[in-house]
Amino acid sequence: MPALLSIRDLEISFRNGKKMTPAVSGVSFDVNAGEIVTLVGESGSGKSVTALSILGLLARQGKITGGEILFEGKNLLSLCPAELDMIRGKEIAMIFQDIMYSLNPVLTIGSQMTEGMRRHLGYTKEQAQQESVRLLKRTGIRDAEGMMKKYPHMCSGGMRQRVMIAMALSCKPKLLIADEPTTALDVTIQCQIMELLRSLREETGMAVLLITHDIGIVAEMADRVAVMYAGQCVEEADAETLLTRPAHAYTRALMQAVPGLHDDKARRLYAIPGFVPQVYGDMTGCRFAPRCPHGESCPWKDDGRMTEIAPGHLSRCRWEEGGNGV
Ligand SMILES: Nc1ncnc2c1ncn2[C@@H]1O[C@H](COP(=O)(O)OP(=O)(O)O)[C@@H](O)[C@H]1O
Ligand SMILES: [Mg+2]
Repeated sequence: MPALLSIRDLEISFRNGKKMTPAVSGVSFDVNAGEIVTLVGESGSGKSVTALSILGLLARQGKITGGEILFEGKNLLSLCPAELDMIRGKEIAMIFQDIMYSLNPVLTIGSQMTEGMRRHLGYTKEQAQQESVRLLKRTGIRDAEGMMKKYPHMCSGGMRQRVMIAMALSCKPKLLIADEPTTALDVTIQCQIMELLRSLREETGMAVLLITHDIGIVAEMADRVAVMYAGQCVEEADAETLLTRPAHAYTRALMQAVPGLHDDKARRLYAIPGFVPQVYGDMTGCRFAPRCPHGESCPWKDDGRMTEIAPGHLSRCRWEEGGNGV
């Protein structure tokens, strides 16, 4: 069966004065129906830009310069704005990284929640209100009726994030894209929201593309994982393989930077020396090389492609446990 979402050789650049600076190069991965795929990597690796491009929401300076984004076999990049608008919010919903900017401050939660259902599903006002209350309760908001009358500034970050999730689910999307949905929240609420996403997936069969820089969340949530570094996808595998037998030196460094996967404070702190390069469009070969512990001694040449090193396990590098990848 073809994947629900298939990103193929995606290329994205940003206009920088007269120059176009590449931000995402040759990114490919799939999300199957009902699957939770996490997109993981340090800050600045291109995760949000990749996610935003799926729904045509890149900033004005951003441009998709190559590749395909297939949703149920249809290339979203070839749709006109009206066609994409029909998919956005209905078939594919998104929860943004910055929740402060995702709710309209001058409208009540109730009017924002009901808008999509009335537009996409043709619900009457009463039907949409009833369904909104049901969904808000589902996300753990006890006084859902009271919440409908509030304005966003009257709610805590945790409440706003639950509202965003309820809103994203309101049109029963086949795919939910959640971009670091709990980064701003404390650990208890983070756990509740992850649990909520998991149980909603069980109930509705919706697929989730979950973006995170937190390996702990990958361990808790993912069926499959795609790892991004400096605008490229460097490794992709099922979660167990990736967590126990990472092949790419970068993925291995990410894991080693996590002293205890379940130690909430430690798992947020990456200790990989150096930084994701700011400008990587002109780099050739392995973009991780300047930070790679194997440095010059690395026998693996990144030829710009992912290699299938085991069924369903793709990587640009092969530093497997103990065997130097051989
Ligand atoms: N609005 C923008 N204008 C110019 N460059 C941008 C913009 N947004 C993102 N970029 C570029 O894309 C890179 C990846 O950004 P992003 O996708 O936000 O990273 P991540 O979500 O992995 O932290 C950034 O390092 C930056 O170079
Ligand atoms: Mg981001």
